[in-house]
Order: sequence, then C-alpha cells, then structure tokens
Amino acid sequence: MSPAARPAPTDAPVHEVIRHRWSPRAFEDRPVEPEKLRSLFEAARWAASSYNGQPWNFIVATKDDPATYNRILESFHEFNQGWAKNAPVIALSVAALNFQHDGQPNRHAFHDVGQAAANLANEATHLGLQIHQMAGILPDKARELFHIPDGYEAVAGIAIGYPGEANSLPGQLREREVAPRQRKPVSSFVFGGEWGKPSPLVVAKN
Ligand SMILES: Cc1cc2nc3c(=O)[nH]c(=O)nc-3n(C[C@H](O)[C@H](O)[C@H](O)COP(=O)(O)O)c2cc1C
Repeated sequence: MSPAARPAPTDAPVHEVIRHRWSPRAFEDRPVEPEKLRSLFEAARWAASSYNGQPWNFIVATKDDPATYNRILESFHEFNQGWAKNAPVIALSVAALNFQHDGQPNRHAFHDVGQAAANLANEATHLGLQIHQMAGILPDKARELFHIPDGYEAVAGIAIGYPGEANSLPGQLREREVAPRQRKPVSSFVFGGEWGKPSPLVVAKN
C-alpha cells in the first residue's frame, strides 16, 4: 500500500479498489509506465454507455510532450493548475453531445463520460496510481487550443500519477490532503416508497 493511502471508512464492505481510490493533489515526481496508461484508457473504453454510444474522448499528455501538456494545463482553472502541474500525466475528457447513429442529442453524454472516468479511476487505483478529476476547467479555452469541434464539449480535467507526499503541498492544500474522508450516509440518498424516506434496504438493523 502506498504511504499516501487514505482508505475509505466504509459502513459496509466494498471492493478494495473502491476503498482505496481517492483524489490526491500531491504526486510523486515519477513517470507513469506507458503500459499502465494504456490499461487506464482500456478500462475507460469498456464502460457501459447509453445505446453503446461511447461518447467519451480524452486529450492526454505526459511531461515528455511539454507542448501538449502545457496546453492541457492552460485549459484548467488557475487553482487547479497550481497543484496539477506536478502530475506526470494530465488529461481532459470531452463528450460527444449527439449520438453517432442518428445525430440526436445524447442526454446521458456527460453521465457516460463520468462512467468511463470512474472505470479509469478504479483501474488506476488497482495499478497503484490515483487520479484527480477537475470540474475547474475552461471549456472554451480547451476548444480553442485543441480545435474541439461543435457537438463536443470538454467535461473535466484529470491529473494522473503516483500519489506523493502531502508535505510537498502548500499549507491549506496539505491539510486537505490528510483530512478525514467524509460522505453523507447511504440512508440520506437511497429512498424507498417515498421521496426522502430511507429505503429499509439500506437502514442498518442492529
Ligand atoms: C467531476 C469532478 C470534479 C471535481 N472538480 C475538482 C476541482 O476542480 N478541483 C479539485 O481540487 N478537486 C475536484 N474534484 C475532486 C473532489 O473534490 C473529490 O473527488 C471529493 O472531494 C471526494 O474526495 P475523494 O475523491 O478523495 O474521495 C472533482 C471531482 C469530480 C469527480
């Protein structure tokens, strides 16, 4: 297990990969093996999607390709640039907004890009890596810098690498890196016959 491990304190047993996935802002200064990168995008490829439309696209670069790496970084908000610039690999996910088979709008395009990203995240954890996704991006900047065509939209930034030492981060970020991980209880979002009322299926019986 990595020294930067932050296993989730779950209320029910879950797969180890899910327990150990988390979103670091500190990354080791160590490249990611190309075969591992291929496995990450292979995992994304095998996500489920509405009509098997596979609306996900990714723009990705390692530090070995500074021209592309820097354009991806420029597509992130300043706050995210501050820490993501230390990740050895960065990426942007881009959704195809319309189905290829009939050109109709795909209401689940972002949903399915998220599923591909979740697959990627879990595969990363399995390989000893972690990813950190970012809503804080500049979609118009990404469109301009990468000539993203109409009908496609940048969804999220992604930093990928081996989790590093929290001490490498400045004050507040360092604190957030090691703070206890928190989630709402399952009973607050899984309902039964009435909206807002916890399903008896998820209420613990003592
Ligand atoms: C779609 C998405 C957007 C996010 N945007 C940002 C972001 O812009 N900046 C950031 O530092 N973290 C961002 N995060 C990371 C979340 O804050 C993080 O996933 C959440 O706090 C839960 O922590 P965990 O992933 O370690 O379990 C984002 C995560 C997701 C999935």
